[in-house]
Amino acid sequence: MVRSGGGEERGYTTRAQADRIGELAGLGPGVRVLDIGTGAGWPGLYLAAKTGCEVVLSDVAHAGLVEAAHRARSRRITGHVGAMISSGSAPGARSASIDVVLHGDVLCCLEDKEAMLEETHRVLRSGGLTVYTAIHTAPGLDRAIHRRAVTVGPPFCDAVASYDVLTERAGFVDVEVHDVTAEYLAVARRKLEATERLAPQLSQWSGQAEVAERIRRRSDAVEAIEAGLLRRSMVLGRRQAVPPSTAAGCSALLSRSSPR
Ligand SMILES: C[S@@+](CC[C@H](N)C(=O)[O-])C[C@H]1O[C@@H](n2cnc3c(N)ncnc32)[C@H](O)[C@@H]1O
Repeated sequence: MVRSGGGEERGYTTRAQADRIGELAGLGPGVRVLDIGTGAGWPGLYLAAKTGCEVVLSDVAHAGLVEAAHRARSRRITGHVGAMISSGSAPGARSASIDVVLHGDVLCCLEDKEAMLEETHRVLRSGGLTVYTAIHTAPGLDRAIHRRAVTVGPPFCDAVASYDVLTERAGFVDVEVHDVTAEYLAVARRKLEATERLAPQLSQWSGQAEVAERIRRRSDAVEAIEAGLLRRSMVLGRRQAVPPSTAAGCSALLSRSSPR
């Protein structure tokens, strides 16, 4: 775990990737960001501290949000950070109210990926950006190998369609998919090494059997990534920008046709 400004590097998003997301999304004061499935605030809190953007951290789990709120208070960045318990498929934000929606490795925890992508599209303003990552099985694996990949990956890493297709189907345009598997492998190896190194201490808290099981799962995942069975992608998509003239034309039309 690396301490970094307002947040701590967790999960599989590296600090360099978080910085890149901040640059791509043009984050800065006044930009409204929703970080769905933020866990304990990574990377939303870090980006709020670094760029001054306004962030709402959201997750279905309470404990991580409490930890993120404590950290935001202790680092005095509460003025532009909010938190709410909500699901990605019902994010609790008004339509067209958000400039940037982030989610790191949340879709691979969800069966209904379409619902979450459609909702992120709904809450984004015209021209707004989504940037997300997802761990998924590699395409074209034979059946038995594919089954193995699904077993060792996150719970819903088997995407029914590839993420560019899913993202476009949800209404996004200018969709880009970047392969970030090399960084994923490096982080997975670091997590395995750390768990092995800290096994004696961890066993005192969680028991030897549980720690041995954790090491086995981490080791299986590293092997699957090395063998090309599991990948991680970073996906960008934009909500189609409606030109101001079109928007003005529509409201003029509506006001002319509305009953007096
Ligand atoms: C792999 S963790 C990633 C945490 C953080 N984004 C990161 O990169 O470190 C996935 C997170 O998604 C959350 N999650 C799972 N299902 C969710 C849902 N339906 N809506 C929102 N968050 C969800 C989990 O509670 C967890 O915090």
